Amino acid sequence: MAESTRSEIRLHVNGVTHRLDVDNRRTLLDALREDTGHTGPKKGCDRGQCGACTVLLNGWRVVSCLTLAVAVDGSDITTVEGLAHEGELRPLQQSFVQLDGLQCGYCTPGQLCSAVGMLAEHAAGWPSAVTADVSPDAPARELDAEEVRERLSGNLCRCGAYPSIVRAVLETAAREEVAG
Ligand code: FES
Ligand code: FES
Repeated sequence: MAESTRSEIRLHVNGVTHRLDVDNRRTLLDALREDTGHTGPKKGCDRGQCGACTVLLNGWRVVSCLTLAVAVDGSDITTVEGLAHEGELRPLQQSFVQLDGLQCGYCTPGQLCSAVGMLAEHAAGWPSAVTADVSPDAPARELDAEEVRERLSGNLCRCGAYPSIVRAVLETAAREEVAG
């Protein structure tokens, strides 16, 4: 008898558990958009090149178009719909609005999720491709515009809102530092 090509999985999306019966080839992006109704993550290229589909997987950013839903069975997923807290935009979202970090908004869900993941990676001490000193005991490099540009280089914006996006991320990082 032929083996089943479908699987039953559970995805915890923005705190709500979804039980799904999915084709084993279904991407996380399609499962989110079409099976759970989270259309925040966008399908730009569907091949890992634009970042519009970025979500947080157990707190770390991934491109959901290159992630199979069956591979993340049981995981916690945060989409852009889950970034606000009790109806309040989080500081990063507020900075995007105040500093014009978006124009058409198509890339914005991916930019926001990617920026949240990026700030967490930086806080955890992960270096980037432009971090000069990557030795284990090097002091953490301050988050500057070059670091933000590099760390968000996987998220494309056809409107060219990059300068405002970088400013919004830097302002958020500075505010979080002040808040401790
Ligand atoms: S849609 Fe996933 S990277 Fe472009
Ligand atoms: S705001 Fe339009 S693609 Fe980025």
